[in-house]
Amino acid sequence: MPLFIWKPSYELNVPEIDVQHRHLVGLINELYDAMKDGRGQEVLDHILDELQEFIRQHFDTEERFMQKHNFPDLERHKEEHRKLGTQVQELTELRLYGNKISTPELMSFLCNWLRDHLAGTDKEFGDYLKKSG
Ligand SMILES: [Fe+2]
Repeated sequence: MPLFIWKPSYELNVPEIDVQHRHLVGLINELYDAMKDGRGQEVLDHILDELQEFIRQHFDTEERFMQKHNFPDLERHKEEHRKLGTQVQELTELRLYGNKISTPELMSFLCNWLRDHLAGTDKEFGDYLKKSG
C-alpha cells in the first residue's frame, strides 16, 4: 500500500503538470517502500538527487504555464517553490557533509509539503484555468 495515494482532486487537467505531479508522488512512495524494507538510508541520496533535479524542472514547467495564462498569484506561488527548492538543497548538502538525515522525518516533510501544495496553491491554479476557460 503506497503512503501517498493519488486523488482525482489533485488533477489540474494540464497533462504535462499532472504527469509530473504523479512522478513526484512516485518518488515519495519509492522512499517509503525502501524505508519499509530497511533500505531508507541506502536510497536516500538517489531520491534526494532525483528530487532536487525533478522539482527544478517541474517548478519551471508550472511557472511557465502560470505566466502564459497570466495567473495573478504567480509570485506567491514561485515563493513557495523557491522555499522547497532551498530546503531540498540544504538536505542534500547535509548529506554531502556526512550528516545523517532521519528518513521518517524527511518522509513526513515531503508528504505534508506535497499534499498541502497540490491541494492548495496548485489547485488554485487549476481552478483559475477552469474559470478562465
Ligand atoms: Fe506548484
